[in-house]
Amino acid sequence: MPGAVSPPVLTVERDAEGVAYAAAHAFWQSIDAALTERPTFRVALAGGHTPAGMYHELVRQRPTGDVWKRLQFFFGDERAVGPEHPDSNYRMAKAAIFDHAPISSSQIHRIPGELRPLDEAARAYEKTLAGEPLDLVLLGVGADGHTASLFPDSPTLVEKSRWVLPATAPPGNAVRERLTITLPCIASAREAWFLVTGSEKARVVARVHKAGDDPPLPAALVRATRVVWFLDRAAAAGVVSP
Ligand code: 6PG
Repeated sequence: MPGAVSPPVLTVERDAEGVAYAAAHAFWQSIDAALTERPTFRVALAGGHTPAGMYHELVRQRPTGDVWKRLQFFFGDERAVGPEHPDSNYRMAKAAIFDHAPISSSQIHRIPGELRPLDEAARAYEKTLAGEPLDLVLLGVGADGHTASLFPDSPTLVEKSRWVLPATAPPGNAVRERLTITLPCIASAREAWFLVTGSEKARVVARVHKAGDDPPLPAALVRATRVVWFLDRAAAAGVVSP
């Protein structure tokens, strides 16, 4: 991780279920601590498949409780589709969390992927974020090193001020047109957590953590006050000796 402010924290669990449990447990611990100092906790959810296990675990660990009412849910990225589309990150989070937790729609701030032109959708979401730092950004990593919808060689990687931009995924991705938070947005957050599992991610995890990698992969460019990697043994094979 070239130039990281403080080295990322790596935690390794036996398997994907272990990662889901550990990340959910850490989530509630982090919130309990934060809410002694602040009225609300603003979290940006990750899309893709990996985080779904953690989202289910969040509800299993705290099925009820007033703590849910103090959460504000945002998203790190969204495909340029509506909320009902099978590839919508919001739809995945709704099925895993929102439909099973005691929260109101006013606590959920989805990215309007159906809006056109996409730059207007991006600017609308920037207004929703209102320049207030997120407490936690949840992220995944693609096999190509992308995170959120920040893809290798993308102009979004050099953005220095906008917090939300349109993006285009390389061919072969579910929905190519995207909206994503940017590196400055993530850098303003208190914490950024990566959830990465499976042997197919071992190579990219190793490369992200290889000092001096040039050019650094998007996931290696992520900065926040604290960065944590929740890995299973398979994904950590290249960074942690057995
Ligand atoms: C998305 C995600 C994306 C995801 C990675 C990893 O919208 O797809 O934001 O960045 O986290 O592609 O996806 P998996 O967890 O499915 O491997």
